[in-house]
Amino acid sequence: MRRITEGRGEKMGQRALAFLLLLPWLMYDSRAGFPNQISIGGVFLRSTVQEHSVFRFAVQLYNTNQNVTEKPFHLHYNVDNLEQSDSFSVTHAFCSQFSRGVYAIFGFYDQRSVNTLLSFSGALHTSFITPSQPAEADTNFLLQLRPALKGVVLSMITHYKWERFVYLYDTDRGFSLLQSVMEAAVVNDWRVTVRSVGNVADVLEYRRIVEEMERREEKLFIIDCEEERINALLEQVHTPPHDP
Ligand SMILES: *[C@@H]1O[C@H](CO)[C@@H](O)[C@H](O)[C@H]1NC(C)=O
Repeated sequence: MRRITEGRGEKMGQRALAFLLLLPWLMYDSRAGFPNQISIGGVFLRSTVQEHSVFRFAVQLYNTNQNVTEKPFHLHYNVDNLEQSDSFSVTHAFCSQFSRGVYAIFGFYDQRSVNTLLSFSGALHTSFITPSQPAEADTNFLLQLRPALKGVVLSMITHYKWERFVYLYDTDRGFSLLQSVMEAAVVNDWRVTVRSVGNVADVLEYRRIVEEMERREEKLFIIDCEEERINALLEQVHTPPHDP
C-alpha cells in the first residue's frame, strides 16, 4: 500500500516538474504569438527592374499602413538581383535568402532558372511567389499569381473565330500550351502551322519566316516565346527591309 502511494507521489512530482519546465515556454509562446516582423526574400533578374520597383513600392505601401487589421506584422525584405539566371547564380541567391530565414521568396524565373528555383523551394519548404508565366511544376511550394494561359488562348481563338493561324514557340514551357491548341485544332478543324523558333540565332531569320508565311497568306500569329525573343521578332516584322 505504501509503495503504491509513494509511486503515485513520485509520478505526480514528475508531472509537476514537467509542467513547471513547460511553463516558461508556454508563457513565452502565448506572449510572443505571431512574430511582429516577417522576413521575406526577393529574387529579381536583370530584366525585371520595373517589377523590382513595384515590389519595393508595394512593401512600403503595406508597411506604412496604420490599420492593424490590414497590417498585422511588419515586412522586412532582402533582395538579390541576378546578373544572370544560370543555375549557379540562382542557387547562390536562393541559399543566401534561405540562410537569412525568410518565410517566403518573391521573384521571377525564366526558362533557365525555373527548374533550379522550384526544386530548391520544394526541397527547403520555402514558398516561392511569382508573377512569372505559370510553370508546369509539381510542387506544393509554388504560388503562381498568373493563371495558366491555356484557357485564355483557347477562348481567344474561339472568340475571334480563328480557323487558320501560325503558332510560333520557343520553349519547353510552350509545349503544353501547344499541345492544348493542337488538341482543340483537331476537334474544331483549325488549320495550324507550327514553327519552333527556339534555335533561331540570326534575327533576320524571323523576317524570312514571316515572309514565308505571308506568301502562304497566313495572317494570324500566336507567338509563345520568351520576352526577349518576342521583341526581336516584332522588331523584324516592323522594320522595313534594308535593301532597296
Ligand atoms: C481597418 O481595416 C479593416 C479591414 O479592411 C476595416 O474594416 C476597418 O474599418 C479599418 N479600420 C480603420 C480604423 O480604418
